[in-house]
Amino acid sequence: MGSLDIAKKAAAFKAVDEYVKDNDIIGIGSGSTIIYAVERLAERVEKEHLRLVCVPTSFQAKQLIRQYKLTLGELDTHPELNCVIDGADEVDSNMNIIKGGGGCLTQEKIVASCTERLIIIADYTKKVSYLGEQYTKGVPVEVIPLAWVPVRKKIEKLLGGQADLRMAKMKAGPVITDNGNFILDWKFPPSEYNWQEVNEKLTMIPGVVETGLFVNMAIQVLYGLSDGSVQRHI
Ligand code: 5RP
Repeated sequence: MGSLDIAKKAAAFKAVDEYVKDNDIIGIGSGSTIIYAVERLAERVEKEHLRLVCVPTSFQAKQLIRQYKLTLGELDTHPELNCVIDGADEVDSNMNIIKGGGGCLTQEKIVASCTERLIIIADYTKKVSYLGEQYTKGVPVEVIPLAWVPVRKKIEKLLGGQADLRMAKMKAGPVITDNGNFILDWKFPPSEYNWQEVNEKLTMIPGVVETGLFVNMAIQVLYGLSDGSVQRHI
């Protein structure tokens, strides 16, 4: 296993061991790090006979829950979650977070809003002092397809930078989210941002469904390191 996977696994296992207990309703995030969390949940269910309900944040998460034979729940029946475990693309020193590299930002944010305990798991490369330091793909913004051109223009006029339509591999067409929408990746110009304000400005644009900016949402970020140890954000 490479050092990145050692780090992802360490963060994921630590989160499941520390934050999950019997009878919990757990939100399951998306991405490659979350796979290790689901693996650990399944191990604990088998060994400790935990009774858990897992609420997915994406089609991928739903498939993982099924694959590992965990109990699948939904927000209709479980609108309040004991905790949500999810990954991140970048986390700054104030715990402002960019998510949505995998395109699941809207459902991830909805599920995260249903708990008071959003726990982010990430490998050590995701920890930065300011957003955009390492992750150069920008802030993902999910848009209603018919609005993508006006939304792009409005973002660039209001906030500068460049908002690019996310394309599928081989430029086969735009990436379509689990909700049937497009994604604009807003490459923001270097500046000192108030990310709460930026998020509000973006979400006020008609046609924007949600952004990948998670501000004041996570209560903890666990960073896995290459030696298998885990560093806490706070
Ligand atoms: C998907 C996400 C992921 O959580 C984020 O991209 C991190 O993924 P990974 O664990 O593969 O690094 O926000 O929309």
